[in-house]
Amino acid sequence: MVKIKNKKRRIAILTGGGDCPGINAVIRAVTKKAILKRNMEVIGVLDGYEGLIHNRYRTLSFDDVSGILTLGGTILGTTNKANPFHYAIKKGDEIKFSDCSAVVLSNIEALKIECLVCVGGDGTLWISNRLHQLGVPIVGVPKTIDNDVRGTDITFGFDTAVSIATEGIDRIHTTAQSHHRIMMVEVMGRKAGWIALHAGIAGGGDVILIPEMPYQIDRIADYISQRRKTGRLFSIIVVAEGVMPMGGEAVVQKIVPDSAEQLRLGGISLVLGAKLEKLMELETRAVVLGHLQRGGTSTPFDRILATRLGSKAIDLIEEKKFGQMVSVKGNYLAAYPLEEVAKGPRLATADHEMIKAARAIGVCFGS
Ligand code: F6P
Repeated sequence: MVKIKNKKRRIAILTGGGDCPGINAVIRAVTKKAILKRNMEVIGVLDGYEGLIHNRYRTLSFDDVSGILTLGGTILGTTNKANPFHYAIKKGDEIKFSDCSAVVLSNIEALKIECLVCVGGDGTLWISNRLHQLGVPIVGVPKTIDNDVRGTDITFGFDTAVSIATEGIDRIHTTAQSHHRIMMVEVMGRKAGWIALHAGIAGGGDVILIPEMPYQIDRIADYISQRRKTGRLFSIIVVAEGVMPMGGEAVVQKIVPDSAEQLRLGGISLVLGAKLEKLMELETRAVVLGHLQRGGTSTPFDRILATRLGSKAIDLIEEKKFGQMVSVKGNYLAAYPLEEVAKGPRLATADHEMIKAARAIGVCFGS
């Protein structure tokens, strides 16, 4: 008698956009639960959507994901330059864009998966939504240090970034105090001020500048002068990379045409620091924390969150809730439509409770 083999269930997982602490914890949770509880095979797509365009995969076994919980980065690799709907092909200095979505659809079809788990920020999840609209069964997992994904209270990676930024501010505090300087600490976040707001409050920043609230340099200068009159001879300014002056533009480090985020931000602390130094005749120094906020191991909070989100993603697959992202609502996990996520980032508003609390203890927002 011929034995009929049960066809094994199979899913795939990819990580897209900028890496962030905790991604490996998600890959581990998704893979372990899929293998242990659902008897599934797990395919890891390499380098985000790039791997789907060029058929680059690896199988993820239980052993492959054992011991990666505390590892920084992503074992699958990632990129923020492989939008299948607007894929950059470089020839020398010339860049041409093409729509590779048909290739991606046929590659996914050939993989014979029941779901593709996409771990990413708003750019990656925007693409996930479009692929889902074209018939791909997708479950999203929100990932970014920026904490700006719509539909979730928090993303994993954020807590780690805030912890690193806070430690940076703490360390800057002592040297600022010794030298009576103005010290600028620049943090990441793109258009969102969440890292600056949280780390600024946690680190006792005197001035916190966020993109959602354009600043006026005179306000900052007045505030620092007032501090000095009361004997506080140093000031710490926590500045998000995406901030802009009232009526002005953010500081752009470089234009990257083939990237999802075409404007590479960074350098505002140097620009604004130099202006303040001139205006106030006070020594000013700037520190750009940059990718330190994204590298290395994650905090226990992020490891736990990433594990919960990864486990929940498998539940959504079981319930066939495709086109949804696992999200955090208060203390609970829920499903949130990718279609809504794709509407744009979640930003702070001037009446946010944390901004009010910071203002109430004398923090200046420069606006
Ligand atoms: O979205 C995460 C993030 O770290 C932003 O805060 C920052 O602007 C951007 O990525 C930097 O991207 P890259 O690593 O490509 O320079």
